[in-house]
Amino acid sequence: MAFKHWPLVRDVRFAQKCGRFLRGARKRRPDLNWDEFRRIARHFKTDDMGSFPERGYLFQLASDLPADAKVVEVGSWMGASTCFIAGGLKGEKARIYAVDNFAGLSTCGEDAAWYNRHFQKLGATSTLEIFRKNFADLGFATRAEPVVSDSLAAAQSLAALRGAIDFVFIDGDHSYDACKADLLAWSPFVKRGGVIAFHDFGSRADGVTRAIFEQTRAGRFTEIVGVANTIIAFRI
Ligand SMILES: C[S@@+](CC[C@H](N)C(=O)[O-])C[C@H]1O[C@@H](n2cnc3c(N)ncnc32)[C@H](O)[C@@H]1O
Repeated sequence: MAFKHWPLVRDVRFAQKCGRFLRGARKRRPDLNWDEFRRIARHFKTDDMGSFPERGYLFQLASDLPADAKVVEVGSWMGASTCFIAGGLKGEKARIYAVDNFAGLSTCGEDAAWYNRHFQKLGATSTLEIFRKNFADLGFATRAEPVVSDSLAAAQSLAALRGAIDFVFIDGDHSYDACKADLLAWSPFVKRGGVIAFHDFGSRADGVTRAIFEQTRAGRFTEIVGVANTIIAFRI
């Protein structure tokens, strides 16, 4: 096991990095419940795909939504990003529709190899059980609506929610074609004045960046809400 994965070393590194992030976050947004953020971050300290600024930004976007907000996430994996969003939501009726095939399938070459390796390590055939356990452990189970489906099929089956979603977060297949298709399929779900955000903008997944640039130029979004590392958020 690499030195950085030794439990004590990992805990010290987590405390340092999270503490550094929280000092800035508390100054920028003293109104948000950053203790709740830290509780979620601690839960995911051994297996998380995002950085503190990205997770913090999702938490902030969710915290800024009205009570009982409805959220769609495309690409939930084991539910880490989903839980950071859930932690920011308020109101008993707040819900996250977590759309994922829960099989780690991707048409993006580099991603496909990564998922295969990770699935072998987990020894699992679906991430849905892990997703459910994470939500239950953190006390968010009532907020999650896992949608076990291909993204575009889910956009058909959930068509009744078009125009009724406060926040859509897209982090599914990172190929250009898939990201563009997700963007076109899911942006009509966002309410007027609501937010759509993407992971991996400006990352090595250049198809994501290209799809977003094209749609920005086409006037699909009214304004940029904010950027945190590779997350970019727009208002519809
Ligand atoms: C990068 S991971 C999501 C990570 C998660 N949002 C997080 O930050 O913790 C991408 C996920 O998208 C899912 N996915 C990829 N293509 C999909 C598709 N066409 N339909 C549904 N899910 C898809 C994969 O199964 C994988 O779980």
